[in-house]
Amino acid sequence: MSHKKVIVNPPATVANVVCGFDILGFALNEPCDELQLELSDEAGVQIVNNDEYNLPLDPEKNVSGAALLALLDAAPDVKGIKLTSKKIIKPGSGIGSSAASAAGAVVGVNHLLDNRFTKEELVQFAMFGEKVASGVKHADNIAPCIYGGVTLIRSILPLDIISLDAPTLHVTVVHPQIEVKTADARQILKQQVLLKDAIKQWGNIAGLVAGFLQKDYALIGRSLEDVIIEPVRSILIPGFDEVKEKSKEAGALGGGISGSGPSIFMLSKDNATALAVEKTMQDVFTRIGIDFHTHVTTINNEGVKVVSCE
Ligand code: HSE
Repeated sequence: MSHKKVIVNPPATVANVVCGFDILGFALNEPCDELQLELSDEAGVQIVNNDEYNLPLDPEKNVSGAALLALLDAAPDVKGIKLTSKKIIKPGSGIGSSAASAAGAVVGVNHLLDNRFTKEELVQFAMFGEKVASGVKHADNIAPCIYGGVTLIRSILPLDIISLDAPTLHVTVVHPQIEVKTADARQILKQQVLLKDAIKQWGNIAGLVAGFLQKDYALIGRSLEDVIIEPVRSILIPGFDEVKEKSKEAGALGGGISGSGPSIFMLSKDNATALAVEKTMQDVFTRIGIDFHTHVTTINNEGVKVVSCE
């Protein structure tokens, strides 16, 4: 028996947004993955990879697969799901590749099921994918991928996601071709925080949220400061300090490590500045001699896009 197929484009995302470790994230208009999903008469989840990355085919070890298994548990009337995955967002890039795989898969199947699950339930399913990817169920890539825009994850248990209205922002991302595993980048973090640092961080997070809501670019810029995570993680990314300093000289409002890295992102008020920032990033990594990819894009307010269903 043939079933309907849906094609979805889940977007890349920037988690943390500098000062909001594990609680803030936003979606990007580019790059996006392409996933095709169909219900199947074969029990469980079958995965076909349509790219060069050789991601695991065992659903329990596959980010999309783990998310789909969680969804199947909540949909006993659905026998099986077939997923064909084409990754465009490079795994390990720090722009939410695993979240896109997990979120895209559950949003696609939900579309086939006439949207029986809420966005919040889809985030819950997709977080099983993040657990496979990094050992931890964080939602700061998943939530913006599913909701679009800028999201605040006030709490994971119970899940409490708040969409934040934000002004137009242009985003420049550089992905230096070095490997930083999220699990490792979490392992090296200190488990204790000094009160004086916590106070600065609280001020910045509150300032950033207020800056988004009030569309106050200057406030956004001066709140993009992280005194807790960035000083530890930035040593894993050669050229980080220089990229940050020179991007700001080129007019960026600010930025920092995207998720757990190695990508670095910068926010700008307009496209011309975002392009000047891209040039700066290219110059730094060319001089250091590390290959890189760049993206110049804007914040995606739609989340996972359903491209076709037939
Ligand atoms: N908040 C997570 C971290 C995002 O920084 O470890 C990982 O992409």
